[in-house]
Amino acid sequence: MLDGLSGKQKTLPCKYLYDETGSRLFERICELDDYYLTRTEAAIFAEHIADMAEYIGPQALIVEPGAGNCEKVEPLLEKLAAPRGYFPIDISPEILLAAQSRINARLPDLEVRASVGDFTQADAWQPLGDLPAHRKVVFFPGSTIGNFVPLQAEALLELFASNLDCGDGLLIGTDLVKDSVVLERAYCDSEHVTEEFNKNILARINTELSADFELSHFAHRAFYHPLRQRVEMHLVSLTKQCVNLAGTRLDFAEGETIHTENSHKYTLDGFSDLLRRTGFTPIKYWTDRKQHYAIHFAQAR
Ligand code: AVI
Repeated sequence: MLDGLSGKQKTLPCKYLYDETGSRLFERICELDDYYLTRTEAAIFAEHIADMAEYIGPQALIVEPGAGNCEKVEPLLEKLAAPRGYFPIDISPEILLAAQSRINARLPDLEVRASVGDFTQADAWQPLGDLPAHRKVVFFPGSTIGNFVPLQAEALLELFASNLDCGDGLLIGTDLVKDSVVLERAYCDSEHVTEEFNKNILARINTELSADFELSHFAHRAFYHPLRQRVEMHLVSLTKQCVNLAGTRLDFAEGETIHTENSHKYTLDGFSDLLRRTGFTPIKYWTDRKQHYAIHFAQAR
């Protein structure tokens, strides 16, 4: 945290937005009218799930990095022909355990084996090394790939590819480049839930690292950066102020920002190129009528 807050552009890693309160606020964001991503992705899944299941094929093993409560995968598991296993990876053992018993109850013949860890790190994938010899498919919905800057996104897709064999699959959701008004409304919603979500990272630092951020002295800002093809989320210091964090004094000029999140948007071609560069062959994508969102299926080479 101190490293990020000591640079010229202050930054905080977006993964720290998700403590218990942050995760609850994110669930509320997903239900907002302004946040089109979740419902658009759900509609694409609902319309094309049978087609997706066919592309995946019978007896597949589904691996889900960052699975959380594992709710998105259930309709897919139910549609697949004789799936052989489901392997969620998540940092939270409690959430994984609850999800594992729910899926076991619903699909008693399916082997569910959870791995607790950070899916961006190779060691979280190690328990998958001894999976039965069936086709593996990495399931990565939610446009989570968008929260990684391009170099990190490449490294992550390469990590996925390195855990797959030739012909294995990747089913991945990406938010698409679109009108900046629509994008900015999604991250600066009229109910101010995203504002609360963004500021919660300061509340969390106050509680967990004994800092004294005054939340009302910071404002939420989210804007689309067309060249970088991403929505950036910042916290703007409303005054010249200083904050103490674990004994270190941090100075803020009026208007200075903490960059808290990037949410990259892709074109269909741009994402296909990224897939090709990282060891995959793009096979098929599905979008909504407005082309706001896409789900891609690719095969490891
Ligand atoms: C989790 N992730 C895909 C969300 C996004 O759209 O980038 C996080 C989020 N940040 C603000 N609103 C939603």
